[in-house]
Amino acid sequence: MDVMTAIESRKTTRAFLNKPVPKKDILEILNAARLAPSGSNLQPWEFWAVTGTEKDELVKKLLDEQNKVGITYSPGRGRPLNKRYIERSNSFAMKILPYIERAGINDPNWIIQGSLSFYGAPVVILILFDEESYSNEINLGLALQNILLSAHNKGLGTCPLGLPLAFGEMIRDHLKIPKNLKISNIVAIGYADTNNPINEFKSERVSLDEITKLIGFDKDK
Ligand SMILES: Cc1cc2nc3c(=O)[nH]c(=O)nc-3n(C[C@H](O)[C@H](O)[C@H](O)COP(=O)(O)O)c2cc1C
Repeated sequence: MDVMTAIESRKTTRAFLNKPVPKKDILEILNAARLAPSGSNLQPWEFWAVTGTEKDELVKKLLDEQNKVGITYSPGRGRPLNKRYIERSNSFAMKILPYIERAGINDPNWIIQGSLSFYGAPVVILILFDEESYSNEINLGLALQNILLSAHNKGLGTCPLGLPLAFGEMIRDHLKIPKNLKISNIVAIGYADTNNPINEFKSERVSLDEITKLIGFDKDK
């Protein structure tokens, strides 16, 4: 798959088959993360892949915690968003809703429950930022995109997950993650359930005009 095709056709998967992913594929995806660029080549990261009972026990703990604490969906992490971002967030929620309903789900908290259960994915990759590098977390975004695209190239679905970070300390305790490593993102990986309508959803983007400025270019060339 060429790079542009991969970028254009990748989308988030929110329903996975209960089918194991070969370890070889996971290692190749982790290797794609390893090859990402970073400032001064510091490579301020680690990538941990979790599957099997360790992953299942983590999901159970996350859902138990959610039952006690009850976090809500909050794109601004509790801070008020400006109009532009409220509109984008509402648009996402409105547009994904019919797909959730078509999947037969009536739970308004489904995105939260789904995220905390990694949408049933057999494997998760934790993207860990080493704060002792005094580096910039933007480096980990590059590794994240390598993971998403290399998995997509293998026919695997992914969902980057920020919501479970609300219970970051619990995840740290469960997996014994050292204090210097901050959990930056968690990626659910597996084979997409193509029969589930939720996976038909394709999110939109604002137009190129709205978010770009060309400075010093000829008008018509
Ligand atoms: C940093 C980050 C965190 C995300 N966290 C979640 C999450 O917790 N739950 C979820 O369902 N999707 C999550 N997503 C997926 C986004 O909703 C999705 O990428 C966005 O709507 C664009 O859709 P696309 O990935 O299909 O292009 C996250 C994506 C990113 C990049």
